[in-house]
Amino acid sequence: MGYVRSLRCRECGAEYAPLRITVCERCFGPLEVAYELEAVREAFTREGLAHRPRTLWRYRELLPVVEDGARVDMQPGYTPLRRAGNLEEVLGLREVWVKDDTVNPTYSFKDRPVAVAVAKAREWDLEAVGCASTGNLAGATAAAAAKAKLPCYVFVPASLEETKLLLPRLYGATVVPVDGTYDDANRVALLAADRRGWGFVNINLRPYYAEGSKTLLFETWEQLGFDLPDVLVTPLGSGLLLTSVDKAIRELKDIGQVDGRATRIVGTQPEGCAPIVRGFESKDGRPVPVKRPDTIAESLAIGDPASGHEAIQIMRRTGGFADAPSDAEIVEAQKLLARTEGVFAEPAGGVTLAALRRALADGRIDPSERVVLLVTGNGLKAMHVMHSEFPKIPPVAPSPAAVDAFLGGIPHG
Ligand SMILES: Cc1ncc(COP(=O)(O)O)c(C=O)c1O
Ligand SMILES: [Zn+2]
Repeated sequence: MGYVRSLRCRECGAEYAPLRITVCERCFGPLEVAYELEAVREAFTREGLAHRPRTLWRYRELLPVVEDGARVDMQPGYTPLRRAGNLEEVLGLREVWVKDDTVNPTYSFKDRPVAVAVAKAREWDLEAVGCASTGNLAGATAAAAAKAKLPCYVFVPASLEETKLLLPRLYGATVVPVDGTYDDANRVALLAADRRGWGFVNINLRPYYAEGSKTLLFETWEQLGFDLPDVLVTPLGSGLLLTSVDKAIRELKDIGQVDGRATRIVGTQPEGCAPIVRGFESKDGRPVPVKRPDTIAESLAIGDPASGHEAIQIMRRTGGFADAPSDAEIVEAQKLLARTEGVFAEPAGGVTLAALRRALADGRIDPSERVVLLVTGNGLKAMHVMHSEFPKIPPVAPSPAAVDAFLGGIPHG
């Protein structure tokens, strides 16, 4: 038996049987999975964790899949938490860690929520799965569907970067390139899924999908020796990753695994699409929708973020903040992370380091704080961003003299 108690409304607290619903019938608030936390407290122990496989299913008491056989065996998760010593030196910080989710099966953190959502779709015998995506989710859903032998339909903006359009097709999915923004793709995907009874991971399976992202935090906690950072910096698209990470922290507290010390949660978006950041800065704390996102961080180009309001509330409650670096700052941060730590993030991952640099400059993060950056996607999927940074090098003749000339001679002494 699993430990799921209900689907609970985040706004009014109403509870529902854990079925295929996503919003509260009373107030239209979003639903989230609630657990029997007293029972989880008994079953979820540090000693027990030590003997479990190094995949995200090691946190099974706080995940909503009940039938083990429904799991899709792509083995996402348990990615490295890298101590960023070189970056600490360059930035003058005491302790920085990079949670490196560039090395998941399809090279982004999206393999985590997809693992849970597709398992749920299997448990319910759904005929097909899919998603609306800014790129990474399309690949993650398509790969998991391939492994689960399910048809897959992904809706993406047609303007998407070539690799991200190609990958889901390679994994065998049907790609629907929508002539419009991500928000347009999301709208038509919703209708297509509901009319056909398909399970779209981030739409009609959203409460379950969100649970998978919590494992990023559970792992970070475990890899820090069962401790939490002072500051956690996360990218923002729809805002769901940030709300999931916060839920994970609250659950660890509720089962007595971490003390009351607060982790400040910081969210970041590119300047060219920053509806949540602008909402954070506004009085009423509501996202400020962006009609035409304009940024190299395509994965974060969501103009009307579904979980934006909750993300703002969480950043405020935890003493965090929101910030929007420019595209130029994001590229600089990607290069710095690669040069110092050997980690190649896509712009959506680089944005967290860009935000850290800005926060150090204006004092919003103190150099003595322990900082974790969530690096959620791999730079190899967005190579076009780097082409202008590294123009082609003219070839060197295969002769010692030409090599000497190229390297500027042999140093003396
Ligand atoms: C690499 C990467 N990081 C972060 C995000 C943001 O996630 P969310 O939409 O849950 O806020 C995305 C979303 O597509 C992404 O692809
Ligand atoms: Zn409600």
